[in-house]
Amino acid sequence: MESSLLHLLLLSSLLLAIVSAVAAQGAVLDSDGDALLRGRQYYARSIYRGGRGGGLTLVAANESCPSHVAQASPVNPNGLALAFFPENFTAGTISTGRTLYIRFAAAPPCSGGRSALWQVRQSSRYLTTGGSESSAVGPHNSRFAIYRDNSARGYQIQLCPCSAGVARPSCRLGCFGALGVTSARLLSLNAGSRHIVTFVKAK
Ligand SMILES: *[C@@H]1O[C@H](CO)[C@@H](O)[C@H](O)[C@H]1NC(C)=O
Ligand SMILES: *[C@@H]1O[C@H](CO)[C@@H](O)[C@H](O)[C@H]1NC(C)=O
Repeated sequence: MESSLLHLLLLSSLLLAIVSAVAAQGAVLDSDGDALLRGRQYYARSIYRGGRGGGLTLVAANESCPSHVAQASPVNPNGLALAFFPENFTAGTISTGRTLYIRFAAAPPCSGGRSALWQVRQSSRYLTTGGSESSAVGPHNSRFAIYRDNSARGYQIQLCPCSAGVARPSCRLGCFGALGVTSARLLSLNAGSRHIVTFVKAK
C-alpha cells in the first residue's frame, strides 16, 4: 500500500516535470500570430525603428565577397529572407529553445559555392555565412536557437553549439549568448546592442 502510494507520487511528479518542460517550449510566432514553419521564408525585422531599424543583409567586411551578416539601413526594414530548419527533422514548426539551422533564402553573391547557412566564426565571433549542418559529436557553431526576449516584444537569436530538442544531443552545454549589432552594424556574438526581431512572412 505504502509503496504504491510512493509510486503514484513519483509518477505524478514525473508527469508534472514533463508538462512544465513542454510548456516552456513555446512555438515561435510570426507577426500574424502563426507558428514559424520549417523551410518557409521570413524577414527578421528589428523591433526598433529609426537608426536602430533595418533588416538583415550581407556585407563584405574583410573579404571581397559579402559574407558578414549585417543590419541593413533603416530604409530597408525587411532585409533578405531567411528560412529556419529545426535540427529535430520531424519538427515542422519552430519552437523556442530548440536548436536549428538558419539560412538566407538566396545564395550569397559571388559565394563560390559557400553556403548561405549562418555560422558564428570561431576566430572573430562575427556572424557570417559559410556554415554547415553537422551531425558530428561535439559543439558546432552553426547551431542557433530562438528565444522570446525578456522585453516580450520580440525574439533574440542565440548561438547554441549543442543540440537541444533532439533524441541524442551532440553535447551538453548551454547556449553561448545572443547576437548583437556592433557600431559597424555587423552581427556578432555577445557584442553591441542585443538584436531583437519579429518574424514577418516573406512573399
Ligand atoms: C578583420 O580582420 C581582422 C584581422 O584579422 C580581425 O581582427 C577583425 O576582427 C576582422 N573583422 C571582421 C569584421 O571580421
Ligand atoms: C521532435 O519533433 C517531434 C514533432 O514535433 C516531436 O514529437 C518530438 O518530441 C521531438 N523530439 C524531441 C526529442 O524533442
